[in-house]
Amino acid sequence: MEKILLSNGITMPSIGFGTYRVTDHADGVKVISDAIKAGYRLLDTASMYRNEEEVGIAIKESGMGRDELFITSKVANTDRGYDATLRAFDLSLRLLQLDYLDLYLIHWPADASKDPDWKGTNRDTWKAMERLYNEGLIKAIGVSNFMLRHLAALVEPARILPMVNQIEYHPGWMQPDVVEWCRQHNVTVEGWSPLGRTRLLENPLLMDIADRYGKSVAQICLRWAVQNGVVPLPKSVSPERMKSNLDIFGFTISDSDMNLIDSMPPTGESGLMPETIEF
Ligand code: A2P
Repeated sequence: MEKILLSNGITMPSIGFGTYRVTDHADGVKVISDAIKAGYRLLDTASMYRNEEEVGIAIKESGMGRDELFITSKVANTDRGYDATLRAFDLSLRLLQLDYLDLYLIHWPADASKDPDWKGTNRDTWKAMERLYNEGLIKAIGVSNFMLRHLAALVEPARILPMVNQIEYHPGWMQPDVVEWCRQHNVTVEGWSPLGRTRLLENPLLMDIADRYGKSVAQICLRWAVQNGVVPLPKSVSPERMKSNLDIFGFTISDSDMNLIDSMPPTGESGLMPETIEF
């Protein structure tokens, strides 16, 4: 599998496995074990997903060397701030049965819509992340769902720039302003819901392109993200779909087809934004 280099020299797989809700109605340990068997090496969890324990068990049971896996978790919205973030990290690490994380993210930014001191809150959370990074407990630190205003406010006083920003990213929802800012600041973009949570799978343009390449729409969405330099994090509970979603490195989407997908009108977005989420 191709790897990409983060700004601090750490390598990360160029596609990962998203675990949000995949453990809700299925045997969580089995789903994560299947994903590792299918070949995923980047596992993306979060305290808010309530499945870190299952992810930890699956990692243990896989027998893989720790350095063969790239494990991400995120600090929950209810744990923002310096002390709470340190405590939350400690709990995540214990649930995952690990002694370090490869990547730790602020799950959602504090936002002006709910927190008058949102800039201060995000800075305090970030200070705790910087401390954990400096102590060697996290290999890379980053943010998630940060829009331009959150990035700009964080970067000014931050001593360490985020290495990653994980945002919703799929055909029809490219958030070009955020992605361009990240490119200019050497922040790697990860994409959640790279299939638009199935909302894109019957899109006529994507179906037409998929037909021409002899690929599934899901594979086109994922390959398109990779060619745009974004690390997609698809989810699935099906071992077959897990595997086919990884099988995207043997073909290239042409520039003209990339342009067609890049130019899609807004399609399939979740509507989840820092100002619309609950906390
Ligand atoms: P399933 O778990 O049954 O495979 P996203 O990653 O954009 O959030 O989308 C996740 C959703 O897409 C899940 O409902 C998952 O269902 C479905 N899915 C994942 N991979 C594929 C695929 N290759 N073909 C069709 N549906 C898929």
